[in-house]
Amino acid sequence: MTTVLLEPDALREALVADARAGLTASPKWLPPKYFYDARGSELFEEITRLPEYYPTRTERSLLAEVAPEIAAAAGAEVLLELGSGSSEKTGYLLDALAGAGRLAAYVPVDVSSAALRGAVAELQVSRPELPVIDVVADFEHHLADLPAPGRRLVAFLGSTIGNFAPIERASFLRGLADALSPGESLLLGLDLVKDPRRLVAAYDDSAGVTADFNRNVLRVLNRELEADFNVDAFEHVAVWDARNEWMEMRLRATRPMTVRLAGLDLTIELAADEEIRTEISAKFRRERISPELAAAGLDLVGWWTDADGDYALALARVSDSPTS
Ligand code: AVJ
Repeated sequence: MTTVLLEPDALREALVADARAGLTASPKWLPPKYFYDARGSELFEEITRLPEYYPTRTERSLLAEVAPEIAAAAGAEVLLELGSGSSEKTGYLLDALAGAGRLAAYVPVDVSSAALRGAVAELQVSRPELPVIDVVADFEHHLADLPAPGRRLVAFLGSTIGNFAPIERASFLRGLADALSPGESLLLGLDLVKDPRRLVAAYDDSAGVTADFNRNVLRVLNRELEADFNVDAFEHVAVWDARNEWMEMRLRATRPMTVRLAGLDLTIELAADEEIRTEISAKFRRERISPELAAAGLDLVGWWTDADGDYALALARVSDSPTS
């Protein structure tokens, strides 16, 4: 059963507004969510298999190890997954929830209906008994409308929350806290602060896959907004921002250029070496996320990391409010 919360033109309208805002700003920026067309999603899958990109495999083995503890602590009968993509790591949580009690449904939520279709088709084969309610939604906007066919564990994995700027992260967590009922919980995958050399390597791999992924956003703009970016004239830049504790990806113009975006009726100029910021990927510490959760009305009730302390799974609950 597919639920569609996304208006048909909503993504396109967001791209139009974001591209105009970002490319006329100083410094220029583009939101990371537009990396993920079919080619970008494939490039990301390739990134997750790179030797330098440890987060995906670290999260997977951590989940394999601690999913039963998470399920026991959550006491949920529904797994709702935000940004489920291919629902690849979900099996550990589904098995653990089924083992801990009654698993009533799996609710994958993604902006990509194609990704959802693929995931649902696979689940129909591997778990024919499991009710799946797939939801096409932009989880930044539809948190309050997500289905709740039982007590939920809401999973937001992959450290995707790191793509939000701090202010956006605060309102996202607040929105989640408001959408959860007492007794429901939130599981976050969080990439942790570590040696900057390892972080930079993870975002600037020697095979150049991340560089290609980064440049893909320009291909998306060329196609969707009839732009004429010379994609190969941009250099991939990955820097560790020690003050904000985030990785930043940028695209640097290797020479001065004029770019026409016919779909926006906009022409922009780039100076030689001018950079467009395309992604921030925040890295976390327990001492920092815990008060952020608390400020949003969520209590950190569980924290698991791999042996090297590279990556964490954080479990949070809606705080007991004194008035209810
Ligand atoms: C999917 C957003 C978690 O920030 O590490 C991978 C995306 N960017 N390499 C991340 C990404 C560059 C990834 N997230």
